[in-house]
Amino acid sequence: MSIRVFACVATFAVASFTSAYAADKKGDPDKGKEVFQQCSVCHNADSTEKKMGPGLKGLFSRDKMTNGKKPTEENVRAKIDEGGNGMPAYKEMLSDDEKNDLIAYLKTL
Ligand code: HEC
Repeated sequence: MSIRVFACVATFAVASFTSAYAADKKGDPDKGKEVFQQCSVCHNADSTEKKMGPGLKGLFSRDKMTNGKKPTEENVRAKIDEGGNGMPAYKEMLSDDEKNDLIAYLKTL
């Protein structure tokens, strides 16, 4: 009897864990780091020093980005999608998953 209850609870826990994980499409910072290799020609990841574009260390903890907007996930994604002022637009070049991974990585800087 108690084994059955346990099996039931365990199945439920696993099921809710997997569905929560699938619904919440968080990026993977390790994969994002690989995607960032194509950005690192123009951006430093380990300093705020300017290369072609601004260094991205601590991006998400800044008050604002160069365009005056807050560095929220949305605004950073918009910048990556649209580029501008010397930054290429990545809207068509990266998949949604790659952008999620990239943003997860940028948050670790
Ligand atoms: C050819 C050079 C180049 C490449 C490649 C490039 N960027 Fe940029 N990026 C720039 C420039 C230049 C700016 C500054 C644009 C501005 O001031 O509006 C910029 C701005 C940004 C900003 C805004 C920073 C701030 O503080 O306002 C982010 C975020 C960013 N880039 C992320 C990326 C990511 C992620 C990639 C890779 C997918 C990438 N960039 C690839 C040149 C580049």
